[in-house]
Order: sequence, then structure tokens, then C-alpha cells
Amino acid sequence: MNFKGRDIISIRDFSKAELLHVLDIAKKLEKKDQLTLLKGDIMASLFFEPSTRTKLSFSSAMEHLGGQVLGFATAATTSVKKGESLVDTIKMVEQYADVLVIRHPGEGSARLAAEASHKPVINAGDGSNQHPTQTMLDLYTIQKAKGRIAGLSIGFCGDLKYGRTVHSLAVALTHFPNVKLFFIAPDSLQMPQEYLDELKEQKIIFKQTSQLDLAVPHLDILYMTRIQEERFPDPVEYQKMKGVYRIGLEILKIAKKDMKIMHPLPRVDEIKPELDDTPNALYFQQAGNGLHVRKALLALVLGKIK
Ligand code: CP
Repeated sequence: MNFKGRDIISIRDFSKAELLHVLDIAKKLEKKDQLTLLKGDIMASLFFEPSTRTKLSFSSAMEHLGGQVLGFATAATTSVKKGESLVDTIKMVEQYADVLVIRHPGEGSARLAAEASHKPVINAGDGSNQHPTQTMLDLYTIQKAKGRIAGLSIGFCGDLKYGRTVHSLAVALTHFPNVKLFFIAPDSLQMPQEYLDELKEQKIIFKQTSQLDLAVPHLDILYMTRIQEERFPDPVEYQKMKGVYRIGLEILKIAKKDMKIMHPLPRVDEIKPELDDTPNALYFQQAGNGLHVRKALLALVLGKIK
């Protein structure tokens, strides 16, 4: 298995064996950092959209392994403001860095960047499309918390239409036998048909409902998501949908005792803070796991680990 020089664009580009390999390397690096592994390597952090976790955990991962980071957190301070195209920006940045991490609102933008670059490009989220490194850290978190992924019942709740983390994770879960998926959302925010078709083709059992309380008793994992205000073309529609699911301690009364609650974060109001200190809350650990998974990915694509 060779990841050297490879782009990380879509979760569909990875076999089950490759995903498990990333998780395995992440586990090793969580146990023991290799402080000089990426000494002399530079990561370009190109964030055209806001981010806390993805941006900072990639930077932290690079620095944990002895590498360096350059980049920007908004296009407003770059020559994009003067009309420079994404392709030209990438052709410049690849001359200053060894690996490029990009978040951009345009669906397909990460693929476009990868085609323009001779250096590996990692997709840190392209519009509503994909967020593959989030998916890898989600798989890592599930495996760590439950000891397995196969056979679990996982409920996705909230904005499943625009939620790229849900799209990527649902696709990745098709690799694991006997998983059962519940898509919990109002009709207008349900999973896009193309993903449902893919699940059917892969013979994955799934159910769709708008009623969270009907699904919860079956779940091993409840994966909450934010209603993504910034993706709604019509603000009136967002106003109708905002706050549609809000969970608090009462959810635990109908859940399995060991049901874990995940969320890619940021949250708005869909998980009340009263859940944060319960053994069911996994979302902050989930975000923490991003560090180890991103260390693994950087070391792999830079060819410093096999
Ligand atoms: N989960 C996630 O992508 O968070 P950020 O938007 O803060 O990076």
C-alpha cells in the first residue's frame, strides 16, 4: 500500500483496506508521536471558508511531527481578491509547500486543485460535497469507542441534504458488513437520492424518518449535525428548519445505555450542553481524534511512513 504523493479528495477513492491502514497509523501516532518525522516539510493551509477544528488540527498535526505550516484563513487577504483563479493560486502555492490542504465552498474545487498541483492535495471540505478526513476521524472515533464498526446501527440526524460529513461517512460505512443506517431529517433536508441509490446498490439497510424518538432506541451511535445556514439558497427556508432537532438529557431515557452521541461540530443548538459531561457524549473526543488521523495522513502522503 503506497500513499506517497497521493491526493485525498473523496472517500470513494479509498478501499476498506486503505481506510483501515490510515486508522492503524493514526493509532500508532496517538500512542507515540515521532517528533521529527516531517522535519523540513511544509504544509500549505488554504482555507477559503471558516474552520476551527480542521484547520487547527491539520496545523497541530504538522507541528507535532516537526513540520511547518504556511497559509491563509480567508481568501480576502490573498490575490484571489484581485481576481486570481483557484488554479493559478494552486500553481503558486505548490512552489512554496510540499502538501496542500484546501477548504473551499465550491463542490469539486479540491479535485480541480489536485489536477492543477504536482504536490499532494488534501480536501478539507468542498462545499456540500465531501469531507474525507472528517470521515476518517469519524471511523477512528467509532472504532475506538465501540471496538468495531461492522454491525452497528448509526443514526444521522439534522441537515442531511447539505451535510458533507454525513455524505462522506455514509459512503465509507458501505465497506462494513451489517451496518444499519437511520436518516433522521425533515423531508426537505433528507439524504440526497444519489447517496441512497449508492447504499441500495451496496445492499446497505437504511431507514428514513423525521421522528428522532422512533429511531433513537435502535441506535449504537447518534450522529447529530448542524442545520447549515450558509448553504440555504433561501433564508426563509432556513428560518423554517432552524432548531428542528434539539437533544438534551431526556434523549438518554429512550436510548441504549451505551449509545454514543457524535457531532462533527460546530454545534449551534442541536445538542444541549447538559449532555456534554455524560458518558454518551463523544463529540469533543471525536474532534480530538482529528489530530491523530491528520498526522497519519500527512505522514503517509509525504511518504514518511508506509
Ligand atoms: N468538523 C469540522 O469540519 O469543523 P470545522 O468547520 O471547524 O473545521
